[in-house]
Amino acid sequence: MAIASPSAGWWKEPIHKVELIWIIVAFLWGIAMFFMMIYWHGVGSQNLSNEAYRTTPADFAAKVDKMTEAYTVRQEGAFPVVRPPPGSDVYMMGRVYMWWPMLELVKGETYRLHLSSIDLQHGFSLQPVNINLQVHPGYEMVVTMTPNQTGQFGIVCNEYCGFGHHTMTGRIYVVDNK
Ligand code: CUA
Repeated sequence: MAIASPSAGWWKEPIHKVELIWIIVAFLWGIAMFFMMIYWHGVGSQNLSNEAYRTTPADFAAKVDKMTEAYTVRQEGAFPVVRPPPGSDVYMMGRVYMWWPMLELVKGETYRLHLSSIDLQHGFSLQPVNINLQVHPGYEMVVTMTPNQTGQFGIVCNEYCGFGHHTMTGRIYVVDNK
């Protein structure tokens, strides 16, 4: 019974054979899954080869602003929609409570997408393709990507970041080159 004190010496009883087998099975499974992460990185389609660099919120915000000022093509509510040159470095900034700005990319072109936060930890979750990245202030994540389908892709924040977390969204458009 859980409410009774365990008998003296319970901590040095020999481990039961069944329990030992389970410990070994769990350990070997953990080792196997560790190597599967490396394997899936090569053959799977979800584990990203991203890079990360040190930055500061001010430096990153300056790069975002520079791109936004140069390449905004239209406005959607409070959001500028930015269409940077195909093949260029593109920037998106997490902050309470939005992914800023919206991007318009061209299908089949390769971009280096830089992500950072200027305040708290946020999550970059690209829907519906299920790409997930943790984004921290002070670090710039760079994902090299080539959009292979046109459409409208939503970004939701999947790291709790405060009372407006559930409203923190963004958008990427992928269009045909015309
Ligand atoms: Cu940003 Cu949750």
